[in-house]
Formats: sequence, structure tokens, C-alpha cells
Amino acid sequence: MEKQEIRQALQGVLHPKLHKSLIELGLIRDIAVSDGVVSLTLALKSRRAPLQKELTAAITEALTPLAGVTAVQVEIAALEPAEAERLFPSPPLKGIEKVKHFLAVASGKGGVGKTTIAVNVALALARQGCKVGLLDADIYGPSVPLMLGLTKAVEQEDEMIIPAEKYGLRIMSLGMTAGQDAAFIWRGPLVAKMINQLLDRVRWGELDYLVIDLPPGTGDPSITIAKALPHCRILMVTTTQEIALADVRRAINLFNKSGRTICGLVENMSYFLCEHSDKPIEIFGHGGGEQLSKETNLPLLAAIPLDLTIRQGGDSGVPIMESAPDSATAAVFAAIAEKITARA
Ligand SMILES: Nc1ncnc2c1ncn2[C@@H]1O[C@H](COP(=O)(O)OP(=O)(O)O)[C@@H](O)[C@H]1O
Ligand SMILES: [Mg+2]
Repeated sequence: MEKQEIRQALQGVLHPKLHKSLIELGLIRDIAVSDGVVSLTLALKSRRAPLQKELTAAITEALTPLAGVTAVQVEIAALEPAEAERLFPSPPLKGIEKVKHFLAVASGKGGVGKTTIAVNVALALARQGCKVGLLDADIYGPSVPLMLGLTKAVEQEDEMIIPAEKYGLRIMSLGMTAGQDAAFIWRGPLVAKMINQLLDRVRWGELDYLVIDLPPGTGDPSITIAKALPHCRILMVTTTQEIALADVRRAINLFNKSGRTICGLVENMSYFLCEHSDKPIEIFGHGGGEQLSKETNLPLLAAIPLDLTIRQGGDSGVPIMESAPDSATAAVFAAIAEKITARA
């Protein structure tokens, strides 16, 4: 029995979705014949691809009539991710078709001011004349609605979610779907599906920037965003404290490994300006951001002071870029936005 003969016999077995033969697609591998037993590997999208039964039967049916064949053994293997993406490209995400740039705000750990920075940088970009959306991808602890004082649930139209509008931003957060029948968001049990729907099923419309508030660390939501948006740039938030720095290093390494562009570091709660003195008080130590910037070769875009107005803004739903746009602290957010637009 010649392998060539087997390949020939398999020419007629087509992939039902791709309408090409399994042989031509390169999905049949490791053909071997021994004592009339033909064994081969069938590579599919995943080991549990629903087509495996159907295709195994078709392969067996095509090979059994060949002279000398006594049995057919088909092993299923999963395609390499890159191969799978080439053969089965993901459909474009409808909701973000008209979004020009993506900026994700990330951190090593929680409570470092990621949401505060996502919100205020988004507002600063809008003040510069950009059309800006804000996606709360912190699905475990969505806090964007609280920081922007959004209490109403979002509406749906033709299976698409209409983002909320406030302070000139288009905003979507799972925190604005509670109590409403938003079943289609939760249909998939997987986080990846949920995140993809926040990109696909939300009518973001034309935007210059979609700012994305990621959960801390590099879990599933961050990986999904990185995969779905290869051109997304990342703004890394840290504080000066040692632990935060260790976490942020880990996060930087992971984002770098997956080939994402980190556009810069922002050090938050860096210093405290006391009304009794001109000298900034460095509550959490000095120079952590600078040191990290040197070490990682990433630009330190800004150091944001610990400012009571920021905290009050976060709690009251009126962020500092709205309540005190002319303050020195607001100017720091404006400067970050300028550095971001200067680079694209
Ligand atoms: N520079 C700052 N000055 C004062 N309070 C801040 C500052 N940055 C963040 N906060 C406050 O710290 C808390 C945590 O910030 P948040 O943005 O929710 O962090 P994260 O999203 O990283 O968990 C919030 O109450 C917020 O108002
Ligand atoms: Mg947050």
C-alpha cells in the first residue's frame, strides 16, 4: 500500500466549512501503514472540534475500499494557534469597525488607580477634540459607572448595545447591565466570549480612541483584548511601592512576550502637595517609576499626585477632569493625553 494511494483516496474528503479537501488543507498528517492498518492524524481547530466524528467516518469510508486495507485509525490533534487563525480567521468585530486607536490601561495589581486614570485620560483626550469611548473591561469589579455617576442601564437596539453617553464619552460597562435582560452578553460562559461581545456587540461607532480599563494583572480579559486587538497600546499604571513594582514587572513581561506595545508608564499617587509647604511629600518613597522606566526602557509619561479631588471625584461620579479641569492635577492628565496623541 502506497501513501500516495491513500492521499489520492482522501482527495474526495472535504472539510464541510472550508469546502476544500482535507489533504489540500494540510489537515491530514503522519500517514502510516502497517499490516493493512492505516493510521493518520487529523488536525482540527481543537481536539474536541464537533466535526471530528463526521470527518473520521468520512476518512474511514474513503480508505476502507482500498485493496489491502483492514482497518483505519484516525487520531485527532489540535492545530497550532497560528495555523488555526490562518485557516479559520475570526470574523471582524462589528462594534469596533470604525475605531481608529485602542488604548488599554493595565496594572500589576488592583487599587493603584487604573480606573481613575482610564476615566480621566479618556476625558482629557475628548477635551483635545478626539471622539472617545470608554470600555470597562474589568468584568470582575466594574467601577467605571460609579466613577462617572452612571446609574441607568444601557439600551439595546437590533441586538446591539447602545453605549451610555456622559461628559462627551461613549461608555460601556457590565456594571450598567444589572437588572436588565442582557442575556446575550452572558450567553457564553467564557470570559473571552464576554470580552469579545463588548467589542463586537456594542455600537461604538466612529471613534478616535477606545480607552479600555483592564482588570489588574494579565488574566483572561487582558489576554482576550490583546488577541482581539493586536494594535492596542498599553498604558501601565504603577505606584512607587515595592510590591506594586514587582507585580507591574510581571505584567510588563507578559505583555511584552505577547508582542503588545506598552506606550508608557504612569506613576500614580506619587507625591502629596500639602497646602502648608511648596515641597511635594513623597508618601510612598521616591523614584520607583523612574527606576522602572530605566530598567524596562519604557517612557515614564507622568507622575500623578495623591490628590483629594481625585478621590472625591471618583466617589461622586464627577471626575477631576470635569470638576476641576484647570487644576494642576488635571494638567497632568492632559499631558498624558497629549503624549498619547503625539504618538498616533
Ligand atoms: N492620585 C490619586 N489621588 C487620590 N486618590 C486616588 C488617586 N488615584 C486613585 N485614587 C483613589 O484610589 C481608589 C482606587 O483607585 P481606582 O482607580 O479604582 O484603582 P484600580 O482601578 O487600579 O483598582 C479610588 O478610590 C480612587 O478614587
Ligand atoms: Mg479599577
